[in-house]
Amino acid sequence: YPVFAQQNYSNPRAANGKLACANCHLNQKAIEIEAPQGVLPNSVFEVEIKVPYDLSRKQIAANGKPAGLNVGGILILPKGFKLASKNQISEEVKAKNKGVFISPYSTEFDNILVVGPIAGKKHQELIFPVVAPDPAKDPDVKYLTYPFYAGGNRGRGQVYPTGEKSNINAFGATQAGQITNITTGEKGESQITIVNSEGNSTSQTLSAGLQLLVKQGDIVKQDQPLNIDPNVGGFGQEESEIVLQDSARILGYLAFCFCLLLTQIFLVIKKKQYEKVQAAELNF
Ligand code: HEM
Repeated sequence: YPVFAQQNYSNPRAANGKLACANCHLNQKAIEIEAPQGVLPNSVFEVEIKVPYDLSRKQIAANGKPAGLNVGGILILPKGFKLASKNQISEEVKAKNKGVFISPYSTEFDNILVVGPIAGKKHQELIFPVVAPDPAKDPDVKYLTYPFYAGGNRGRGQVYPTGEKSNINAFGATQAGQITNITTGEKGESQITIVNSEGNSTSQTLSAGLQLLVKQGDIVKQDQPLNIDPNVGGFGQEESEIVLQDSARILGYLAFCFCLLLTQIFLVIKKKQYEKVQAAELNF
């Protein structure tokens, strides 16, 4: 959950660019960013993170029962960019984001936004309404091209903040040897007993809902997976760029283009005039 990142990482983007979510959501799956290429100061715009997945796939819940996937995401904007306030958001985006709660990452980083978990069935697109800063009001902000980063996740994580593994994992054999016994407990959990060549026996429990790959009598190596990896989700991150554009620059550019057009036209007119003079001189 984004809150696990908020509680455990003051800055969710490590020096090597890895986003905190990837530490616990170990599967990698693609996401896409959709954002304007350039924005004007104080303008409100949307950044969309697409988190696609096969809706027919189910994962296992903490209780071992099949469950749908939820999605969540994180958006790391350039300094000064913030979550748009309610009255700045268009009705269309409000309707799309009904029941979706987007919040700043922390008081220190209000340019980082997080959302989720939300139902993946309804939302495979996370829409963040953002307001651009104004360099005239904030001297730290300049008219520049800025990089920004986004992460999106579907499905449950593999590790809890305590370091404990979740049930969304492929569990390996604790020792090499022969599986002498597999029993199923009341709640559907499997107890697997492995006896090694020296006769030492270990027993390990796999939680309910996991599909076993081994059966009684099988010889296994150490760390050989005992169950099919139930992970159907995954986390992905992408980066893109956004230009904080000065409207005076756009006007200046247009004026420049217009001047260029005029000089070209004048050049052609001058050439025509010169051709006439040349033609007249020939007649003498
Ligand atoms: C569950 C997103 C960071 C560990 C989830 C879910 C989402 C999500 C959407 C629900 C999945 C579902 O129910 O199908 C994110 C995002 C993160 C992030 C966007 C970064 C901003 C982390 C971190 C950890 C973590 C840092 C580990 C410290 C887990 C675990 C679950 C989970 C263990 C399953 C919880 C349970 O159902 O018992 N996360 N997560 N996540 N996340 Fe994350």
